[in-house]
Amino acid sequence: MSNKNALKPAIHMQKVCKSFGKLAVLKDLNFEIQPSRKVALIGPSGSGKSTILRILMTLESIDSGRVMIDEEVLYEVKEGAPPPHLAEEHVSKIRAKVGMVFQSFNLFPHMSVLRNITEAPVHVSRISKEEAEARALEFLDLVGLKNKVNAYPAQLSGGQKQRVAIARALAMQPRIMLFDEITSALDPELAAEVLSVLRNLARTTDMTMLLVTHQMHFAQEFADRIIFMEHGTIVEEGSPEKIFQQPKEERTRSFLKTVLEAT
Ligand SMILES: Nc1ncnc2c1ncn2[C@@H]1O[C@H](COP(=O)(O)OP(=O)(O)O)[C@@H](O)[C@H]1O
Ligand SMILES: [Mg+2]
Repeated sequence: MSNKNALKPAIHMQKVCKSFGKLAVLKDLNFEIQPSRKVALIGPSGSGKSTILRILMTLESIDSGRVMIDEEVLYEVKEGAPPPHLAEEHVSKIRAKVGMVFQSFNLFPHMSVLRNITEAPVHVSRISKEEAEARALEFLDLVGLKNKVNAYPAQLSGGQKQRVAIARALAMQPRIMLFDEITSALDPELAAEVLSVLRNLARTTDMTMLLVTHQMHFAQEFADRIIFMEHGTIVEEGSPEKIFQQPKEERTRSFLKTVLEAT
């Protein structure tokens, strides 16, 4: 294959294994995502989707294998060998390229919307308060919540909280964004406003995006590639057309049948 068009993958996992006690959650997982791509990760509950995102966010370690961001090592563990020590500075530099939005918004309840967004840029990235605030307003505008700048999380709907959480992640200017079932805790109407923000983001930014969702219709319109996983391995991947209209694997077909019947 010619590699004339091959870019450095933004996300690259090689032979990644991860267990919790006796439970093998990721089994020799291999995949790569090219820069700017929008990828949806689908699969039954417990298949390891959140674990992948949490590893990329350095919230979980791995047992063996290699994880790279922009072809720089985030984790590399050889089976049976002690984990090599990666300098903290190196890990935080790579880690800073990745942002994540969770199902449970995790906003700081005692801080205004503005401070929720400026806190990390000011205290972690050490940019000035003025610049952080100017940037926060831009991202609030992007998620349609400029008028809530002084509100507190308790005064917001679930959909608004989630949009603030998106603005907060964007304010760190990541190159890669991870979304973990971010509409699962919301009523359909509120989920729709969050999905509309995501749809716009996907269309207007060159960030690499990896999204876990149970909403197959949204996955289909958001993503240029779908990865279906089950029991810690990738069963099948491809374009939305291929996965939704002509899945090759019986397991993909039966999963899609189950989730589409449930909605
Ligand atoms: N910190 C943990 N300790 C023990 N088991 C865990 C932990 N995190 C996840 N698991 C288990 O690992 C499996 C995969 O979890 P997860 O990655 O959250 O799956 P998914 O997001 O696809 O539903 C599940 O069986 C889950 O219960
Ligand atoms: Mg999950």
